[in-house]
Order: sequence, then C-alpha cells, then structure tokens
Amino acid sequence: MKKSRILSKLPRHVAIIMDGNGRWAKNKGKLRILGHQAGVKSVHRAVNFAINHRLDALTLYAFSSENWNRPIQEVSALMTLFIRVLENEVEFLQNHNIRFRVIGDIHRFDNRLQECIRYSEDVTRNNDGLTLNIAANYGGRWDIIQAVRSIAIQVKQGILHPDQIDENTLRQFICMNELAPVDLVIRTGGEHRISNFLLWQIAYSELFFTDVLWPDFNDIIFRDALYAFARRKRNFGRTVNPSNYEENFC
Ligand code: IPE
Ligand code: IPE
Ligand code: MG
Repeated sequence: MKKSRILSKLPRHVAIIMDGNGRWAKNKGKLRILGHQAGVKSVHRAVNFAINHRLDALTLYAFSSENWNRPIQEVSALMTLFIRVLENEVEFLQNHNIRFRVIGDIHRFDNRLQECIRYSEDVTRNNDGLTLNIAANYGGRWDIIQAVRSIAIQVKQGILHPDQIDENTLRQFICMNELAPVDLVIRTGGEHRISNFLLWQIAYSELFFTDVLWPDFNDIIFRDALYAFARRKRNFGRTVNPSNYEENFC
C-alpha cells in the first residue's frame, strides 16, 4: 500500500495494553521493577510517535483494577514510579501541548499520587494537541458500573426515565466519551486478551497483538500496527460491498 494511502487511513485514537515488563526484566536477570522503569522509556517513545503521526488520542493501560493483587513490594514500587514520572513529566507535557488525563478510580491511590494526578490534569487542561489518557486502577467493568451508577442517580432524581435509557445514554457516562472512538488496540507481551481494559469502547476497534515486550516497543512496531490497521476493512456490521448484495446473496 502506498505511503500516502496509509497516512490517509491513520487511526485517530490508539489504545495500548503495555504488557511484558516483568518478563523483560526476568530475561535480563533483573528485578521486575527495573522492567517497569524500562517501560517508562517506551511510554516516551510511544507518546512522541503519536505526536509525530498527529494522533488525536493515545490511551495507555498502566495499572489494572486487578493489579492490586500483585505482591505489595511490586505495587508500592509501581506507585512510587508513577509519582516520580508525573512529577518529572509535567514540563514535557506542557512543551508538547499534551492534554493529560487519568481514567480509572484514583481514590484508592494515596493522597500524594492523587494530588500529582490532579495537578498534571489541571496544568494541561487547555492544551489542544495530543490527549494522553493513562488508565490507572482502571477496569472496563468498573467503567461500565460507574456509568450505570450515574444513570441510576439521574433516574432517582427524576431527570431520566428508565424508558429513555439507550446506547447513547450509557455512552455519555463512559470514560473518554468526548474523544474520538478507539480505532486500534495494541497489546504487547504476546498474550491475546483484553485483561479488563476498555470493554464498551472497543466494540468495533481493530486489535493488534505483538510478542514484543513493552520495554522493547519502538517506532517500527508502532508503524507495523498502523500499517496493519490501514489494511483492515472495517465493516461495522454492514455488508462489505452493498452494490453487489443481490449478485452475491439473492
Ligand atoms: C505490564 O507488565 C505492566 C503492569 C501490569 C503494571 P507486567 O508486569 O504484567 O509484565 P509481565 O506480563 O509479568 O511480563
Ligand atoms: C494488563 O496486563 C494490565 C496492564 C498492562 C496494566 P496484566 O499482566 O495485568 O494482564 P494479565 O494478568 O496477564 O491478564
Ligand atoms: Mg503481564
């Protein structure tokens, strides 16, 4: 496919399940946390790539609602790493006109991390370049539950009648509803599953899996994913070529 054609079929919103940090570290005889630290460099690469390719939004799965079940030492080290990265990166976000947001239930994080998150979100609120969403203490099931809870409150207050609830109603309360739909989900680390990442939002996303471990993720693999995306035919449930419908099926 010609380069110009590829560029015209770029996704607007890419979401990445950044998996494989632990195995990357183990392969090198290092502690898991060193894999997570190496993963931060890949985050930088991915964000720069997203800017250079003029994506509207990049959503990165950093910590799932199930990741609390890991050993306390790993969870604590991850929390410390999040704080350090946030404190160091606000300038980068500002310099690159990035709007930063966290999706997920941040109330379970300690106060310092919550403050860092709110500060980074506030400072970058009016930036109109790339929107960078970090999914932290995020679960696709949690997302749907929080949306349903908001709707239930509106019903209780008499603002909404149960008969009025449809797909659009729920969509309005789901995380990232105001952004372009997630066109492409990339998962590194070789597993072919969603692990409670975006559920509602990826109903019609294209999926791209790679064995590459997250700390090794680079522009070549990101580009491979974009090429794969450009070659996909997205039907959204429709007949592929409606003009041939009678010829093929009647
Ligand atoms: C993903 O890498 C990062 C987080 C879940 C925080 P992993 O830590 O799951 O790495 P593997 O899958 O064990 O190699
Ligand atoms: C998914 O990776 C979560 C993140 C990348 C943050 P996991 O390593 O937690 O997923 P499972 O446990 O292999 O499904
Ligand atoms: Mg993993």
